[in-house]
Formats: sequence, structure tokens, C-alpha cells
Amino acid sequence: MALPLAIIGFMGSGKSTLGKQIAEKKGIGFTDLDRYISESTGRTISSIFKEYGEERFREIESQCLHDVLRIPDQVVAMGGGTPCYLNNIEIIKTLSTSVYLKVSPENLTRRLISSKNPRPLIKGKSQDELLNYVEQKIKIREEYYLQADFIIESDQIRVEDLLSLVFV
Ligand code: S3P
Repeated sequence: MALPLAIIGFMGSGKSTLGKQIAEKKGIGFTDLDRYISESTGRTISSIFKEYGEERFREIESQCLHDVLRIPDQVVAMGGGTPCYLNNIEIIKTLSTSVYLKVSPENLTRRLISSKNPRPLIKGKSQDELLNYVEQKIKIREEYYLQADFIIESDQIRVEDLLSLVFV
């Protein structure tokens, strides 16, 4: 049995896409933490933010993180903020092998503008406002992201790169 592989990084960095590919190649399970939260609460992420606020969302997120990381042999895609609140980074470091997908603010902004996934924190932002937001927020969040066991610094992350790095 192996510790779960936790994929962390900013919104739009491709955590779920890459996580699913790794899980498929390794023949192990895949969990998207946001989806797990939605299924556990019966609400979308947007409606949790709207009805209960971000602080409550972070509590629910942390509880769900604890639940999910107890399951071995799986890949878990975190939410962009997951490692940065409460003591989640310590939990991630203790209960998983972690990988930070580091993508430039310019590319994140490009991807987020064209994404159809509703994200309450960036709703209604223009491209310029979004780039500014991403740049500022990454500066704060990297204190946590950079504590991952592995950092993949690339705007073109390939599943093969990750597999050879993590599963040597
Ligand atoms: C968030 C990222 C989202 C989701 C929520 C908050 C964040 O996940 O958890 O909207 O704080 O960066 P993705 O990174 O999958 O978009």
C-alpha cells in the first residue's frame, strides 16, 4: 500500500486532468476533492461559498481532506486553496506524497478565462483583473505550495514527466 498522491497548485493548473491521467496509467483510484465536497454536502462549491461563506467552505474542505487522505493507493486533486488554510499543509505532508504543479500566472490566467468550471473567487473578473489577482495570490500561496515533496515547474506538464519523477 502506498500513500495517496496529492496534486496541489493554483486554480487552472491542470490538477484534475493530470491526476486522472496518472491514476489511469497506474491503475489506481482518483478523487477530486471539490467533487468529494460537493457529493458529501449535496451542494456545489459555488453554492457553499454563496450560502455559508468562504470560512465555512474552508472548514468543510479541511474535514473532507482528512477523510480522503486516509485512503491509500489513489491520486487526489486538491482545490487551489486547500494547502493554504487551517493546518492542511501539515496533513498533506504527513498523509500523502505531494506534487506542486507550478504554472506561470500568464498561462493560468489564459486557462482560467477559457475554463467553463465556475469558480466563486474569480467570478466576474476581466482578464487584466484576473492576471493581477493570480499574481498577488500566488505570492501568498507559494509559501504553502512550495512545501510539496515534488515541484514540477512547467507550463507544459506531461503525465510521463510526473510518473518518472514520482514513481521511480
Ligand atoms: C479554490 C479553488 C477551487 C475550489 C474553490 C476555491 C481556491 O478549486 O476549491 O473554488 O481557493 O483556489 P480548483 O483549484 O480545482 O479550481
